[in-house]
Amino acid sequence: MSSRRTVIANVSIYDGTGAEPYLGRVILADGVIEAVGPHPNVGAETGSSADPDTSMIDGTGLAAAPGFIDVHTHDDFAAMVHPDMAFKNQGGVTTCIVGNCGFSAAPRDPELRFAANLHPGHSIPDFDGFDGYMSYLDANPPGVNIGVLAGHGSIRAGVMGPEADDPNRQPNAAELSAMVELVKEALDAGAFGLSSGLVYQPGKNATTDELVTVASAMTGTGALYATHMRDEGDHLVEAVAEAIEIGRRAGVPVQISHHKASGPANWGKVSESLTLIERARADGQAVHADQYPYTAGSTTLESVLSNYTVIDDDTISDAAAAEVDGATLPGNRLVVASCEAEPEWEGKSMTELGATLGLSASDAAGAVFEAARTATVILHMMDEADIQTVMTHPSTVIGSDGLPTLEGKPHPRLYNTFARVLGHYARDLNLMTMAEGVARMTGRSADIFGLTDRGYLRPGHAADVVVFDPATIIDKGTFADPNQQPDGIQHVWVNGEPVVHNRRPTGARPGHVLRRPI
Ligand code: ZN
Ligand code: CU
Repeated sequence: MSSRRTVIANVSIYDGTGAEPYLGRVILADGVIEAVGPHPNVGAETGSSADPDTSMIDGTGLAAAPGFIDVHTHDDFAAMVHPDMAFKNQGGVTTCIVGNCGFSAAPRDPELRFAANLHPGHSIPDFDGFDGYMSYLDANPPGVNIGVLAGHGSIRAGVMGPEADDPNRQPNAAELSAMVELVKEALDAGAFGLSSGLVYQPGKNATTDELVTVASAMTGTGALYATHMRDEGDHLVEAVAEAIEIGRRAGVPVQISHHKASGPANWGKVSESLTLIERARADGQAVHADQYPYTAGSTTLESVLSNYTVIDDDTISDAAAAEVDGATLPGNRLVVASCEAEPEWEGKSMTELGATLGLSASDAAGAVFEAARTATVILHMMDEADIQTVMTHPSTVIGSDGLPTLEGKPHPRLYNTFARVLGHYARDLNLMTMAEGVARMTGRSADIFGLTDRGYLRPGHAADVVVFDPATIIDKGTFADPNQQPDGIQHVWVNGEPVVHNRRPTGARPGHVLRRPI
């Protein structure tokens, strides 16, 4: 551990609570925040900047905030194959919660299907179980802190094998208790909760009762149930009701992942789903949501083909297009993000690709899947008004849901989520104060997930700090040219070590595996 001190002087301090900023200084020492407070005249206290053990950062015109906590990531294997994690910390992220949407690194899938989708061509190190995964990262630390969720889908597949994918095969009593045991094993290793992915194999085959049973392994622990719900379109409201029911029956907090309403016919339904969340909260249940700040989502082509019918745009009138439901996907709304076998297809919609190949949009999607079963896609299916409604709701915090397919044309949310909320939504659209935006990616996120030693600029908290320019911070990537880092993020420290200095990654890997106290 470095004994160097860092003094960030004359900086606007956003402490993570949502309180308005004040001018002061932050002192980092031995991996923690030693002091923070109003103290513009810091030079007098620390001696001269020539002190070899103290780095002085002039924060004039800049803001200091707790490092951003990305509560919804799929960086389980990225932390192993791209361990500097520069693609995250250049965007201000210092902690990633991995294991979302039902997919976790453990139990290790013998075929590594999920890893293969995101990291084709990379070999994944060996590890055994949740504890083995975390121990690997202890020994080979990445550039961000990692908090782990246990994935219900991975656990189900680990227990039931390939039969987990059979919709007519439900787990027997022994299999159910084996799943419960695996959740307990994950909690013992330090996991923060359980995630589910109820549109993906094999999670989609699970009944509500199964999910209640498995989540009940966490009853009374404070660990949470995070869910990519069964439906985010035509049956969004029913799906939110199911998530709340699971939380209530299992006695666990609920985190609704990437809350949205998909498909023009469903736009506006978030007001109903948020009302359900409010009612549950009024009844004393802990229910929150996370969101990425874009009107497009991203997932595997495989899951799109099993959940949607892709249609040709010119087969529907403009009036009918407004009625497109959550199960129908016009070809121009579906864009190739990564396709290892045919990189020149990346960035093209199925309609465009179909025109080039002389195929219908649906057959073009089929051709992409034939070429690369690991292909990922972007779906333009949400409404801007809904994004803003969800973002300003008191239950919402920010998570990127980025798919770390660094070789293709990933959704720009991978790099730009946090800068876009602060620059575009807070500053430019004035949807909330900058301080409120910061709270929704730091303190509030830490409280929800039970990260007790970070998320706030407070003495004794871990020295995860971002220094950004509130006047210029903004997202940069576009869907056509997504591999760009945001503007305005100057310096980032993880556990007191600089990982970004003057906008450049340092290559340092000071991340810790975070473990929920048991
Ligand atoms: Zn998801
Ligand atoms: Cu996800």
